[in-house]
Amino acid sequence: MRGVWKSGLRLMAAVLLVLSARGAPPARAQEAQAPADLVTRGEYVAEAADCGACHTVPGGPHFAGGMAFHLPTGTLYAPNITPDAKAGIGQYSEAEFIRAIRNGIRRDGATLYPAMPYPSYARMTDDDLHALYAYFMQGVKPVATPVVQDGMHWPLSMRWPLTVWRRLFAPDPAATLKGATARNFPDPVVARGAYLVEGPGHCGACHTPRAVTMQEKALTAEDGALYLSGGAPVDGWRPVSLRGENRTGLGRWSEQDIVRFLATGRMPLGAAFGGMTDAINHGTQHMTADDQLAIARYLKTLSPTTPAKAPGWAYDPAATNALRAGDMGARGARHYVDSCAACHRTDGHGYPTTFPPLAGNPVVMDPTPDSLIRIVLEGNTLRATKQAPSAFVMPGFAARMDDAAVADTVSFIRAAWGNDAPAVNVADVARIRRSLSPEHPPASLPMN
Ligand code: HEC
Ligand code: HEC
Ligand code: HEC
Repeated sequence: MRGVWKSGLRLMAAVLLVLSARGAPPARAQEAQAPADLVTRGEYVAEAADCGACHTVPGGPHFAGGMAFHLPTGTLYAPNITPDAKAGIGQYSEAEFIRAIRNGIRRDGATLYPAMPYPSYARMTDDDLHALYAYFMQGVKPVATPVVQDGMHWPLSMRWPLTVWRRLFAPDPAATLKGATARNFPDPVVARGAYLVEGPGHCGACHTPRAVTMQEKALTAEDGALYLSGGAPVDGWRPVSLRGENRTGLGRWSEQDIVRFLATGRMPLGAAFGGMTDAINHGTQHMTADDQLAIARYLKTLSPTTPAKAPGWAYDPAATNALRAGDMGARGARHYVDSCAACHRTDGHGYPTTFPPLAGNPVVMDPTPDSLIRIVLEGNTLRATKQAPSAFVMPGFAARMDDAAVADTVSFIRAAWGNDAPAVNVADVARIRRSLSPEHPPASLPMN
């Protein structure tokens, strides 16, 4: 990353000139009242676009800002986007608002940090953005408390490197929209799913790998097989592949499994955690059943990145039989029986939709073990959703298990029941334990 900032130096003078010449656009004129159904439609767009996942803190007022992004240069907080004229975005005209969402340019002309997923939002239609603006101006309660940005160091306190980045790597919204409308899908349901996933849903912001310069390596299914093939860990949680891999992707999920997961955060093969919890709670659970199905159908069109001849997952009862016979010879078996089997069971099947199965679970076989280590250290709560009103807790084991015990236990669940995924080492556990301490928060986006 640093190299980019440096190579941006030469562009700096030019960019600063452009910025100072541009100045702030004129303030919003008094808008007429938008019809109520437009505001309601805008609220739905805000949910599909998951604006609340970053701009609302749990328990806080809607859209008053707050989620922290830990960057090597300091902590950036998502701003207040309520219509308050001072603390929020009340002064934004519709054109300025649309420019912020699609182009990542703030009202004063500064470039937004791409934690705000404008490279995906560039695909959002005029209609959706028109409704979204009506909702933010008239459907959201103004909150007068500003978000205080403290502790940002160079270069984020200075925004020109972001402008350089945007010009080099963010898609051109006009061309993007043109390309999106030119695309031809034989099935209108898949077309709707593609729009939701690639545009407002910004699923790729987490699920697509990024280049060293931070841009997503693919923004749509058309860009190739890296799209949604699994992203770098965000806040230490690893977004897995959403393509058709049998073991580590959605190859064994049916459309209905995906719909159920998007609606409730749970399905027979696994349960939501990490950033996906927010994506579901603020976003996908509020979508109509038709839109959830559209997303599922589109995801099922994505081919696997691993060769089709790679053997698929099949349940292997050897570990179950050994544990039931009292044979604790396998690495980590004793820890598993003592600490995990009460909920996830010796056969690894768990109690589906309550305690997720570990056998055949793509998250458990994922090439990157970070989330597994983290969930064992820290635990997690499977939150209640509209359709699944009870919460279930996975306890954290950080105080009870040392790094070697965690490495052994995670290696056990990766090896058992036909999972056959590589073991993890103690150094990985130590790295993740360190990143969970408040002095070393994990980077929110890969920035090195
Ligand atoms: C993944 C997190 C994330 C999501 C999702 C997100 N934002 Fe943001 N947004 C941010 C961050 C972080 C910033 C501040 C970036 C900066 O200061 O460089 C921001 C900035 C903004 C701004 C500029 C506000 C200002 O300071 O003038 C607006 C407007 C905005 N977001 C609206 C939205 C809307 C509307 C949505 C949903 C369509 C949305 N955001 C979704 C993270 C997010
Ligand atoms: C803030 C980051 C983030 C965003 C945005 C996000 N996801 Fe996820 N997603 C994750 C993480 C982390 C996981 C792995 C944990 C889990 O399975 O819940 C995941 C898991 C999933 C899974 C389950 C895969 C499995 O094998 O367990 C599905 C399906 C999914 N995401 C779909 C989506 C869709 C569709 C979108 C866009 C509407 C989306 N995600 C947006 C972070 C994210
Ligand atoms: C008290 C019951 C309980 C115990 C004991 C328990 N877990 Fe869990 N586990 C859960 C619940 C509930 C979830 C779902 C959490 C979520 O999704 O937020 C979960 C989730 C997981 C996941 C993520 C799977 C997915 O698809 O979401 C893994 C991996 C996991 N547990 C491993 C372990 C290991 C290893 C141990 C022992 C060290 C253990 N668990 C002990 C209840 C338990």
